[in-house]
Amino acid sequence: MRRVLPFVCALLLGACDFAGHVQSPLNAAGQGADDVLGLWRFMLVTFSIVYVAVMGLGAWAILRRRQGEAVPRPANQVLWIGVGGLAVPGVILTVLLVLTLSAMAAEARWESREADLTISVVAHKWWWQVDYEHREPQQRVRTANEIHIPVGRDVRVKLHSRDIIHSFWVPALAPKIDMIPGRYRELMLRADAPGVFRGQCAEFCGMQHANMAFLVVAQEPEEFERWYARQLQPARAPQTELELRGMQVFMEKPCAVCHAVRGTLALATAGPDLTHFGSRRTLAAGALPNTRGNLGGWITHPQSIKPGSHMPDIDLGAGELLALLAYLESLQ
Ligand code: CUA
Repeated sequence: MRRVLPFVCALLLGACDFAGHVQSPLNAAGQGADDVLGLWRFMLVTFSIVYVAVMGLGAWAILRRRQGEAVPRPANQVLWIGVGGLAVPGVILTVLLVLTLSAMAAEARWESREADLTISVVAHKWWWQVDYEHREPQQRVRTANEIHIPVGRDVRVKLHSRDIIHSFWVPALAPKIDMIPGRYRELMLRADAPGVFRGQCAEFCGMQHANMAFLVVAQEPEEFERWYARQLQPARAPQTELELRGMQVFMEKPCAVCHAVRGTLALATAGPDLTHFGSRRTLAAGALPNTRGNLGGWITHPQSIKPGSHMPDIDLGAGELLALLAYLESLQ
């Protein structure tokens, strides 16, 4: 019993969702996920009935044997095999096929409609670049690892991979879709209510596959517009001596070689755009909450937090680190 207990506990705890139901297809919060959930429910119910019936018959036969009674053979074995082995599975699988095809057709019809907003998401090892399609020329919103969408609006997401195969999956909002280098794919997202939904790369892509997450923040349209307007702005200029020093550290140390902060001389695209980094909820593609302590640890020892990532450990004096933290946090 003592050996079995940990496994039972692990199984039971595996069903818990400590993060608040943000990454479960069972908590569908949008049309794409609703379709998938409908299929899942059909499969759960029918397959459970079949499972219980088959296991029940097996248990009945074993018990009968144990009691010394013979298990009766059906009079017509061919009929039993025909019904239980062909007709019943045939009907169930045909119904499932029809439901799947109609869900796919509904998804395709939805995707062919005009979207209210178009976003492009590019997968990198191991983070997500997010660009909002220009509404006006010269306007650009680029962020990383956090996608904001207005509630109740159809959002087209154009997906592409910069390096190897990744997979875009926000279980509570939409079906999973692979991102294949050299191919452009599309997906519709719509959230029915405000909330923060976790997404995860769902195709094994190397050492930090598990730490390749992102958030979808569904906001009321007015709130989304406020967020969008702020993201359109170039980075906030340093306001204090410390922030100014932090900006100098950012430019002199390797940071500016990979990252962009719009409105400054840092324009690189190898790593996430940090123009409004301070407003984001997580660090390192969902690996850590965006707090001062985590940020300090991430900047100085990223290889301990996300081994294999392209971000190198950076050697900074205590004063330099404090200034850099103040500057990055000021990029709201
Ligand atoms: Cu990217 Cu797994």
